[in-house]
Amino acid sequence: MTDKTDPKTANQMWGGRFAAGPDAIMEAINASISFDRRLYAQDIRGSRAHAAMLAARGIITTKDAEAIGKGLLTVLSEIEGGKFTFQTALEDIHMNVEARLKEIIGEPAGRLHTARSRNDQVATDFRLWVRDQADAAIQGLTALQKALVAQAEAGADWVMPGFTHLQTAQPVTWGHHMLAYVEMFGRDAGRFRDARARMNESPLGAAALAGTGFPIDRHMTARELGFDRPMANSLDAVSDRDFALEFLAAASICAIHLSRFAEELVIWSSAQFRFVTLSDRFSTGSSIMPQKKNPDAAELIRAKIGRILGATVALFTVMKGLPLAYSKDMQEDKEQVFDAADTLMLALAAMEGMVRDLTANRANLEKAAASGFSTATDLADWLVRKAGLPFRDAHHVTGTLVALAEQKGCDLPDLTIAEMTGVHPAITQDVYSVLGVHNSVASRQSYGGTAPDQVRAQVARWKAALG
Ligand code: ARG
Repeated sequence: MTDKTDPKTANQMWGGRFAAGPDAIMEAINASISFDRRLYAQDIRGSRAHAAMLAARGIITTKDAEAIGKGLLTVLSEIEGGKFTFQTALEDIHMNVEARLKEIIGEPAGRLHTARSRNDQVATDFRLWVRDQADAAIQGLTALQKALVAQAEAGADWVMPGFTHLQTAQPVTWGHHMLAYVEMFGRDAGRFRDARARMNESPLGAAALAGTGFPIDRHMTARELGFDRPMANSLDAVSDRDFALEFLAAASICAIHLSRFAEELVIWSSAQFRFVTLSDRFSTGSSIMPQKKNPDAAELIRAKIGRILGATVALFTVMKGLPLAYSKDMQEDKEQVFDAADTLMLALAAMEGMVRDLTANRANLEKAAASGFSTATDLADWLVRKAGLPFRDAHHVTGTLVALAEQKGCDLPDLTIAEMTGVHPAITQDVYSVLGVHNSVASRQSYGGTAPDQVRAQVARWKAALG
């Protein structure tokens, strides 16, 4: 016979209904305190708002609410001071905080959970946490964008090869390439902003799933917690994790951008490219090959992105088959989002540091820009504009000239005028003016094009936008 009053055998939390405590394996699979302790500040904030509302509505006395509010602050400082003992037997952060509150203030602690359930409590805590992370992501992205804009401004007119299929395509400017990432990270920040705006509704007061018979004021708690309004459907409020999914989706797209850029940095810093030199602060050496300087930070960003994508798939999978309203499956939301958020913030910070320290090797970039017949399109365009050829014919003539240069082992500007006119009689000396990489980029003045003037205009726009 288990004795319900014996704390060693009785169930610590549901002693009324349960005679026995949980099996050790049940405790291991059920308890979330090992990870959801990260929600302590949000949990205490939500409870304080709830208690104050209960008093304002006359559901508990002001005296009790004050004792609860003060006691919760004591719990907060104990946790922050490392003096709090988290107990697995108490399952999660909500029960751990409440149990400690009871030890500190006694009977009034039992009134805190009036008109509330852990279902709306955890939904509230987690929303507050994810909302902070959306803000942190926006901050990290802004810092990274600023670093990229500084690179773009310095190198608005440095030429480098632009690639398609990783084959030399046309010359572009360094600034233009940097600004491409500024645009991507700008969209990422926009996605976090959109997600934040949508998630900013309060689940608190939805109680277990159906709302409550107590005369609560959900607008009051929503306001107190910085939410725009209470969620309008209590079933939705406790079973929705869209906010976490949206955060992960935004994080995943951002992660892909970070990974693509990391990949470019790995290629660019190789001995074969030498487009950039990474700082010592963001590189490592080899224990055996003394000449090596490895782009580990870029590689690790590229690799860690897998964790974010994995977390996203994991949470979508957790959610996809759940009936309304709360199911314990949803406890699995936290570790995924925690890890994805930690990984994202670290990757953003590492990328920002690398970009700030990055040295573009201007001479190598320019040399590479001029190779690979990169101005062939300029030559074809010249034949259209100056010699009046239809573009398809100009394309063919240029192709013939490229083949000729390839055969001779030289670049397009190295062909003599006689060789040029041998292929098409309308070609004049003037053609050489478009075969240089600087003229090539300067001519691409279309809006959003690679011309230094266009790059400078976009740099100015971003500087004003980023502050
Ligand atoms: N630890 C739980 C979670 O994270 C809190 C909610 C528990 N609710 C319940 N009905 N058992 O989801």
